Amino acid sequence: STAQGAVDRVVLMHPSGTRCEVRTLGATVTSWVLGGKERLFVSDKAITDGSRPIRGGIPLVFPQFGTGPLMPGQHGFARKLRWEYTGIKKDDESEIMVGFDLRDSDATRASGWSYSFRLSYLVTLTTNSLGTHLAVTNTDKVAFPFTALLHTYFATADIGHVAIDNLTGLNYTDKLLKNHVFYEDRPQVSFDQEVDRIYHGTPETLILHVNPDETMQLKSFGFEDTVVWNPWTDKAKDMVDFGDSEYKSMFCVESGSVHEAVKLPPSQTWEAGQLLELV
Ligand code: BG6
Repeated sequence: STAQGAVDRVVLMHPSGTRCEVRTLGATVTSWVLGGKERLFVSDKAITDGSRPIRGGIPLVFPQFGTGPLMPGQHGFARKLRWEYTGIKKDDESEIMVGFDLRDSDATRASGWSYSFRLSYLVTLTTNSLGTHLAVTNTDKVAFPFTALLHTYFATADIGHVAIDNLTGLNYTDKLLKNHVFYEDRPQVSFDQEVDRIYHGTPETLILHVNPDETMQLKSFGFEDTVVWNPWTDKAKDMVDFGDSEYKSMFCVESGSVHEAVKLPPSQTWEAGQLLELV
């Protein structure tokens, strides 16, 4: 077995100059540098010693988005545990791919979600994209339910300029309004207050206007929903691992299957992922 802490982080470097970093803690992607700029937000107050999940990058939520009903606590155990680095899966001119695994352990069995499983996560870096792919395998004798999500924190120079296309016409659950469901009729989703919404049945491609001159394409597959989140002023003050003003320089767009739990039969594998690309 791999000694705990044997690999703390893996850095991928592409000949084009792009790079990304993945921590084995939570298999959290904590950096993606493209065109000389950091594209993911990580809080200056992020704690990376494993005492809590990392505040920023791409934490992986499994097997429970939010709190209950599948297990106690918030956002599951996957983002809090150390994953096994399984090595380089591909390394050629076009892309570099590395893998991470998480299996059931004493910690996961004691969590309240007690099934046997294997998670395999692949992180792929190319000249202009970052891919993250999750496979969930049921190694138990019974079917199990789960929700899963890639909690991506995007960096922006100014939250006031951020806009998201392609969410128009969808229903969303507003977590700030007693989980009531509303219809999105705005042509673009933007931020001028706290936002915490689950958009249902999102399209394959979302367009994120990250900065006035920078557009990111978020392609997802296998995920049903998209969570949009910004804590804004009051929530920011409540979080010990987040600066009071940092809400101005980040926003989360999170690909997931969270509105309804996935039910995975024994021996089956469920797969989903996303591809971020600067366009
Ligand atoms: C979002 C949730 O995905 O994550 C929010 O919709 C939550 O409700 C946010 O506040 C951050 O969660 P945490 O556990 O990382 O503070």
